[in-house]
This record gives sequence, structure tokens and C-alpha cells, in this order.
Amino acid sequence: MTTITQLKCEYRPNPLGIDITTPRFSWQMQSERRGARQTAYRILAASEPNRLHEGSADLWDSGKIESDQSLHIPYAGQKLKSRQRVYWQVTVWDETAQASASDRAWFELGLLQRSDWQGEWIGAALTGGPHTTIPAPYLRKSFQLDNDIKTARLYVTALGLYACSINGQPVGEDVFTPGWTDYRQRVQYQVYDVTPLLRQGENVIGAVLGDGWAVGYVAWHSRQQYVDRPRLLAQMEITLTDGRTFVVATDRTWKHQFGPLLENDLLMGEAYDARLELPGWDAPGFDDRRWLGVELFADPGMLLVATNGPTVRRIHEMKPIGEPVDKSDVQKKRYIFDLGQNMVGRVRFKGSAPAGTTATLRFAEVLNPDGTLYTANLRTARATDYYTFKGEGQETWEPKFTFHGFRYVELLGYPGPVTRDTITGIVLHSEMTPTGHFECSEPLLNQLQSNIVWGQKGNFVDIPTDCPQRDERLGWTGDIQVFARTAAFNFDVAAFLTRWMQDVADAQTEEGSIPPVVPGVDTSFMNDGGPAWSDAAVICPWTLYLCYGDRRILENNYGLMSKFMQFIVEESPGYIRCAPEYEGWPGFGDWLSINANTPRDLIGTAFLAYDANLMAQIAAVLGKKDDANKYQSLFAEVKKAFATRYLKGSPLPIAAAPPSEVRQRMDRADAISRGNLKAVDYGPVTSEVFNTDLFTPTQTAYVLALHFDLLPEALRPLAVAELVADIERRGMHLSTGFVGAPYLPHVLSDNGRLDIAYALLNQTTWPSWLYPVTQGATTIWERWDGWTEENGFQDPGMNSFNHYAYGSIGAWLYSTVAGIEIDPAQPGYKHIILRPQPGGGLTHAGGKLKTLYGELVSQWELGNDTFEWTVVVPPNTTATVYLPAQKEGKMMMNGQDITGSVHKLEAGKYHLIIR
Ligand code: BGC
Repeated sequence: MTTITQLKCEYRPNPLGIDITTPRFSWQMQSERRGARQTAYRILAASEPNRLHEGSADLWDSGKIESDQSLHIPYAGQKLKSRQRVYWQVTVWDETAQASASDRAWFELGLLQRSDWQGEWIGAALTGGPHTTIPAPYLRKSFQLDNDIKTARLYVTALGLYACSINGQPVGEDVFTPGWTDYRQRVQYQVYDVTPLLRQGENVIGAVLGDGWAVGYVAWHSRQQYVDRPRLLAQMEITLTDGRTFVVATDRTWKHQFGPLLENDLLMGEAYDARLELPGWDAPGFDDRRWLGVELFADPGMLLVATNGPTVRRIHEMKPIGEPVDKSDVQKKRYIFDLGQNMVGRVRFKGSAPAGTTATLRFAEVLNPDGTLYTANLRTARATDYYTFKGEGQETWEPKFTFHGFRYVELLGYPGPVTRDTITGIVLHSEMTPTGHFECSEPLLNQLQSNIVWGQKGNFVDIPTDCPQRDERLGWTGDIQVFARTAAFNFDVAAFLTRWMQDVADAQTEEGSIPPVVPGVDTSFMNDGGPAWSDAAVICPWTLYLCYGDRRILENNYGLMSKFMQFIVEESPGYIRCAPEYEGWPGFGDWLSINANTPRDLIGTAFLAYDANLMAQIAAVLGKKDDANKYQSLFAEVKKAFATRYLKGSPLPIAAAPPSEVRQRMDRADAISRGNLKAVDYGPVTSEVFNTDLFTPTQTAYVLALHFDLLPEALRPLAVAELVADIERRGMHLSTGFVGAPYLPHVLSDNGRLDIAYALLNQTTWPSWLYPVTQGATTIWERWDGWTEENGFQDPGMNSFNHYAYGSIGAWLYSTVAGIEIDPAQPGYKHIILRPQPGGGLTHAGGKLKTLYGELVSQWELGNDTFEWTVVVPPNTTATVYLPAQKEGKMMMNGQDITGSVHKLEAGKYHLIIR
């Protein structure tokens, strides 16, 4: 039996309010049958659900298409207009010529033209200042409906954040809407089906406006980076059962008042005085005569765009793992709760106290040795919430417009009693389907995997951020560049990162450079991220293409990528990028490496070569033959330049001193990256590969040269040996930073040193992936030495305990330990490469991955003299399995003898054994 499920439109089931007018359809075939695959499909699209039949589908009938394509098929029917809802359905023919029809699905367009918007931007009369906040304005509008409601939509956005309610009921489940974009260029709106919230008679729509990114503090900058105060733009379109239509839009007839939400800021926290609540303010029958009129604002003129990706939601709840610890002193009651997990979100607080009592909630990722909160690493983020009781029995409160990164919560000034139930952790992140699961016989590695997943949850909060706790939380391009591949194993991040690529396009400068953080904030901040950061512009779309088979992400970003390539080529005389004499920003180097200094120009040149190589492949995918040739020769040129400059026997170039302003910034970055790390001398380094007159070779230098294919064939074994020697000289430790670490294990396992890759993976002394795990870490640390027995905490100026960059080891766990790899020739797991490489003392390991085709499984177990491997190949895909190299063993597949270690498999479940 074949069934067709998982109907998605632009990666989401039934998206409400998109503005992609040729959205793409995907579906999954479910079947237990060996070799199940699609041979043809037919899509019907109609304006009414009951018209989804041959002959009556009024919008599109694709006809029967002989094809096995089941992902990303673009709508190609009647031109669509604003607000249009499209129902669709697909019929799939399988390899037995059996036809199966899916259930129906739909998508609905938002407002495509600016002229569709009738509302005006409104807000309160009060503004704060660069360091002064205002209470959150409460806005309301009452209106009458004299018949039953057929349908109603709310189109809404804000500068700042909004939380809407209708007749006392919250609208939707989104948090931190409208999300973060560069508001100078675009702001997203959301669309809600509010039909069930309305009724005949008086109705009230309410909105509370928060500061968020547009108005509040952003990173280390002051407030008001984009706009001086929060503003709302909303439009409710209602159709009554009698066919009449009404629009209730933001205009001068709305009213506002200030209420209990005295202060709100994403970084600083929230202050709420329940005595100032306005009971019934967003419901009919409320007396708003003493409310004030609203201020109208001119249209700021940025683009209003639909939300084509996920929004932030409350994902789950966490309970403290034990009773709170009493740390009260003579002055104050003080309790510390441990949620057992470094998480991102906020807490719901429950208690009762006399009116006017204020309880303070503070947050920290780790504790000081004396059991108090360690908050020094939050820098200027106050991360503190205040709740003032109204004194009416049991009161429950959860902030609206803030989030913190924490495992520990301190409750201060609450008279009690307190129990585990006093607080509940609310985990917030962008809604993403969990797709991956990795597990093995080593509990420390399983904890590492869990830490990676939690690092991803906490830093996929509307945009991909570096960290969730201190006064930063920015879209650092380098961090997501190194983590994207791992991210795509753990969760479906396609729509999330596709949306962020739009922000990258917005942030690109006239010259073509890509800033270090996206969305852009303060324009006086740097506009070039430098090597490995700005290159996210090429690497992220390519990664999405590989993981999801999405060609459009390449098409849509090809202009951006080409312009970026032109910029870096122009800035790289003789194809050396960021040479010492370069006057621009040469980048952050191998950020947070340990006692190893890889020249910035070597990193720059290596990434220029890598980009050229990827661009050649991208151009080929898009059928741009000339471009593919052009980038292929660029790759060859850069490779030549790399060899001439960095490899042994090269003439020593004369390096001029860089300009002093850039020099100063480089020195500052270097000092931050070393922190309080004491330099260790590993003795003189000799090399037959690199020119040691120019620089001291580092692990990262070898890793980039090998991984990006920059060495003559003959030098590769030597480079591998020297890399291994460096690792051994350091007592089997890595020295790589953000740039080298992600590739290091791949380079070792791809070049015959799986043993060393596993030795590094299993290393438990620092620097290593497992050291933090042995110290009880529940997320990935920013630094290898965030805390060590020898030196205690690293410099609090840069010491996050929740940074995903070093979590990039996750891709190696899935691809090499579990053995799940992509075939770039048939991306998106259309053809799967399965090649587990057991080692490191593991007795079993495995990965499961919900690909867009269905669930893929690769799980192995080592017995005394057996290797047993369970493989599930999803319908409509094929796989090539590589049995791990063994001496003449007896091999069996599903009970049948087999020979040879490479086999092509069709969809189905397989059990393989080597004895
Ligand atoms: C961030 C990083 C980022 C780096 C650039 C830091 O402040 O937290 O993760 O990539 O700066 O060097």
C-alpha cells in the first residue's frame, strides 16, 4: 500500500499568509514495499476544496507528469492574487503503476501590494531615550458586527513587538512577532485566521506593544537602533455570513493606555506590576473613556513582507530538578532553582504575597563556586524580571517580551514558601521539526549530542545567533556558516535559513561585501565580516541545496553570491586575500583557537579558493556553463597562488604593515580570542609542506589546505602526517578555533586517520569536545576553556556557555560515526551514501534522519566477531552502502550471502551482517 503524506508548501504544512506567488509543493510517499518509488505525479489546484477533481480544478492541473520528483515542484497555474487561498492535492503513481491520491492541503497568500494595506502606523505619544524605556502601551479598538461571521483574517505587524488579543483571547501562539529583520529595509507581517474569536455584537481587538529589536537594546548598542518607540500596523478583514465585508484597521480611532507592563526589553528583562492591571481591557463592555488617543506615524517606507518561515513559539516546559536551595540572608529571602539544563526562554512564576511585594528573578548559566549566580558573562544584559503582586491569592506570571539564557534561576525578595512548583521554565525557539537522532554506546558522546541540540534550540530564536544570554545575541555569519550542516541534521532548518538568507541579501553592501552580523544593526559597525564570516553567503545556500535538494535557494541567491565573489576577488591582489598589506578588515582569524595562530591571509586565501570551487558547482547546477568554467579557473588560480605563497620552497613575500586602525582592531580581536589563556611553547616546528619562514604551521592550516583541496597530490600524505604530529605533540589535543574545528575530524577520517579523529573525539581533557561534558555542561561552550580546573572561568568579557559553533562536530557524528552522507549529484538525500566508520571503542551507534523523503536509518552494532547494520532507505530514494573494510569476512544481507563491500539499494529495510 502506498500513501501520500506530509504535503508541504514552501517547507510548511498549510502556510497561512505567504507572499511567494509560485510556491513549491513537496510530499512524501509512505510504503513498506521494497523499491517503492514514484514514477509520475499529477497536481490539482483549485479555489474551492470541492473542485479538486479532474476537469474542475480551476487554478491548475499539471496533467500526469512522468517524473520521480516529489520535492519543490513550483505552482504553475493561474496567476494568484492577494488573500487567495489555494487548495491542492497530488496523485502519485508508484512503480507498480498504482495511483494514490493525497488528502488535500492548502496555502494562502498574504497582502501582495502595499496598496492592500489600509491601516496606518499607530502608537503611544510617549518615547523613551537611548537608555530610558517606556511602559508598554496597550492599544484597543471596539467595533460592532451585526451578523454571524463567515471568515476573518488579521494582517498585523509592528516596529517593536506585538501581542494581539480579540475579545480577551490571545491571537495565535507566536512569540516575538513580527521577528527580526533589518527594519530599515523590510518588516514581516503575520496573518491569523481569527474567525472563531469574533462574534455578533461588540468586539474588541487589543494589542500590547513591546520594544524588541526595533526599539530596545540590541547587543552592546543603546536602545532605539531602528525606531524611537513601538508602532503597530494592523488590518482585520471580516466577511459576514450575509456576504458583507468589513475592515478594521489601525487608525486614529484606536485608543491607548499604559498598564502593568512597566518595562520590557529582550536583553534587560521585564517589570510587571499586577496592581496596575486593566481587567477586561481587551474585551467588550470595558469603559475606555479615560483612555488616550493614539499617535499616527508616517509610513516609514520599508517593505512589508509576509513571513515565509517559522516564528518563535513556546516549545516546551521544564521543571526544576530538585527543591530550591535556600540562600537567604538577613536582608533578603533568596532561593536558587536548578532546571538541570541550560535553556533559553523564560520562567512562569507562581506565588502569593501581599499587594506591593516585588519578587525579583535573576538568571545564570552557571554558578560560582559558592553556589551563587555567575552573571559576569552576561556583560550589560541585566536579564532580570520583576513581578509586583496585587495581593489577590495565587498569582501566575510569565513575561511577554523578553528571554534569557539560563539553567539557574534566583528568586529574590519573595516571602515564600517556595517549592519546585514555584517556577516553570518555558523553552522558546523558532518552530522547527526535529529531524535527527544520534545515539551511541558512549554516554559522554550522547550528552555531547544533547548539548549540540540544546545549543541549536537556544540560538535559533528567529535568526541564527551566536549566543542567547549576554548583550550580543547577533546573527554572526561565521557561526552559522560553520554550524549549518549540523543544524540541518538535527532539525528541519530549510525555511528558517532560507528566510535568513533574505536578511543576508539586505545586508550586502553596494560593493558586495557581507557584514559580520545579519540582520544589520548599527551602520557604523563593520560592513565586511572577513574570511569564514562573509563566506556564509556562498556556503549557507550551498549547504541548504545539499541538505534539501533546493535549487531555488541557489537561483535566488546567485546574484548576491556573484557580487560577493567579485568583491573578494577585487580585494585580493594576486589572489591572496587579506594579505598583511590589505587595508580592509582581514577577519577574525581562526577565532578562539588555542595556542595556535593561523595567518589571516592563509585563511582568507583558502576560503577564496573554496568559494570559487563551490561557485563552480553552483553555476553548473544552475546550467551556467560559462560561469562554471570561470569559477573553475579561478579556483585553479587561487590554488596556484596559495601554493606559491604558503608551501615550502616559495619565495618569501615582503609584508607591509597594515594600516593602524585595522591593526588596532585586529589586536583587540586577538586579545579577546586569547582571553586569559597562558601561551604554551611546543618547541620548534619543522615542515616539509608549509613555508616555515613565513609562518608556523597550525592544525587549521593543514585542515584548510587538505579539506579545500589546495595541495598537490604528492604533499597530501605528508600534510596529514604533520597534522597528526601536531595533534600528538599537544598530547592528543586540538588547537583549532571556529574555522578549523568543524573540518578537523572530516579531514582525519577522509585521509586515513580515523583513529586520530576518534582519539580527539574521545579526549576528555581540554581543549576537546568532551571536556565541557565532563564538567557537567548541558550546552556547547563558546570557548574550549570557558572554565578549567587550572584557570577557573575564562575572561567574562567573552565567555558564553551556549554557543553552537563548536557543536559543528555533530555533522561528523551523523556522517561518519552513523555514516549518513549526501550525494551532491542527487542532493536532498535522493541518493544516499551510507558509510559508517566504526571506531573509538564504540560498540554501537546510529542515526535516524527524517529526510524530506521520509525516515532514513543507519544503526550498527559490533559483537565479538560481527558487525550488524540496520538500514532503512526511504521510499523514492536509493542508497549506496559501503560496508566497513574488513578482512575476508562472511557478509550477508537480509539472510542472503553477499560479496563485495559496496551495494546499491532501493527503498526498504535491510539487515546487513559481517562475520
Ligand atoms: C561572537 C562570535 C563571533 C565573534 C566574531 C563574538 O563576539 O560571540 O561568536 O563570531 O564575535 O569574532
